[in-house]
Amino acid sequence: MSAPREQFSSKAGFIMAAAGSAVGLGNIWGFPTQTATNGGGAFVLVYFILAFMLAYPALMAELIIGRHARANVFTALRGIATGPFTRKLGSLIGGYGVIVASFILSFYAIIAGWMLAFMVEPVALMLGFPSVAEWLTTFSLERNIITAALFMGLTMAIIASGIENGIEKWSSRLMPMLLSLLLALIIYVLNQDGAMEGLRVYLSPDLSRINPPLILDALGQAFFSLSLGVGTMLIYGSYLSREESLPKLGAWVTLVDCGIAFIAGLLIIPAIYVAQAHGTQVFTEAGDLIAGPDLIFQVLPSLFNSMGSIGPVVGLTFFVLMSVAAVTSSISMLEVPVSLVSEETRASRPQATLIIGALIFCASTVTLLNFDVMFGLIIDITTVYSQPLLGLGLCVFAGWIWHRDNLLKEIQAGHPDIADSWFWKIWPTYVRFFCPLLILAAFGQSLVG
Ligand code: TRP
Repeated sequence: MSAPREQFSSKAGFIMAAAGSAVGLGNIWGFPTQTATNGGGAFVLVYFILAFMLAYPALMAELIIGRHARANVFTALRGIATGPFTRKLGSLIGGYGVIVASFILSFYAIIAGWMLAFMVEPVALMLGFPSVAEWLTTFSLERNIITAALFMGLTMAIIASGIENGIEKWSSRLMPMLLSLLLALIIYVLNQDGAMEGLRVYLSPDLSRINPPLILDALGQAFFSLSLGVGTMLIYGSYLSREESLPKLGAWVTLVDCGIAFIAGLLIIPAIYVAQAHGTQVFTEAGDLIAGPDLIFQVLPSLFNSMGSIGPVVGLTFFVLMSVAAVTSSISMLEVPVSLVSEETRASRPQATLIIGALIFCASTVTLLNFDVMFGLIIDITTVYSQPLLGLGLCVFAGWIWHRDNLLKEIQAGHPDIADSWFWKIWPTYVRFFCPLLILAAFGQSLVG
């Protein structure tokens, strides 16, 4: 009855999709603002070290488990469990991951909806609808609900089309577009007054700024940026063929993610200083950067407004960029619950997409109705606490619970001579001890802090 399980059609298709998931608002907005609030270059340095030393090994755990189990995170963890207790543990971690992925999407859709609104605003202005433009950029319940609904609809349309025709096709189209837009904007901004000061802050690390809170921020940012813990990368791994070498693909995804974050910093940090040179207030009285939504939705638009006639075009380009980055990420979040429901029930993929998309949109609406209380709370519960804990659970599964022979066999598939590589010698022990301990240490710190 069931059709053969879908797969990514090629290595490049997988890299586009997985990098598309990883590269999102976390890279273009989160990373540069975290860098700016944490004193510039020092954060960049710590971030890259942690991304390769901790996030990459955790990413590998997800990809390896996913490709072996060929299933969603819930079914996969139950499948590799070795007894009744670990099976329960698998259900718990997997089920929790699916819920967290859904809640991450519920707030991500709200933010991405704002990006859509700011993207349409310059168009409304150019067409001579100033009141529409005003409505689009003014915070209101109606605007928030309508734009979040639009964004969810877009995400659902892609996910309903499946792996090759949905996720892979759209990621492969949108990712190159994202990079071109980013480069075009950088060239423009770097030629403005004030940009060089921003570049200096970004690129010269002041090592004395490295402290435990900075390390924690960098760790959380790395886990969010690589979409870890909730089974996103696990399900993408499950659509990969056995012919591919997982350690290499994982390294590519990590490199692209870090590379785009770095490039986004080349745009945003100089842009902050250009805005300052134009007279926009970008630092508070206390000398802290205006971070959070205000940076993107006030500082940058005021920079675009000061550019004269080219301003609307630059603004439009920037928010197209943000929307594109957001959609290739949101599809990967929706894929987590949709894959569970379409694999474990009789619902077809489009049906599962419709039901789950509607439920997640309800969660977004409830959040919007109680915005002041719920918005920040949901972001913290899901990304600051749940993601690292789930990452820990996945490392424990890969390192301690899963039969070692199966683990090693899966790593070898697609990479026959891997036994000579450093990955083979280090990684299996590394996920067992180092990853859980480091996550635990960082987590303990954040609880104390
Ligand atoms: N990594 C994406 C970003 O940087 C967001 C994302 C996609 C994500 N899938 C995820 C975050 C799963 C956490 C979990 O914006």
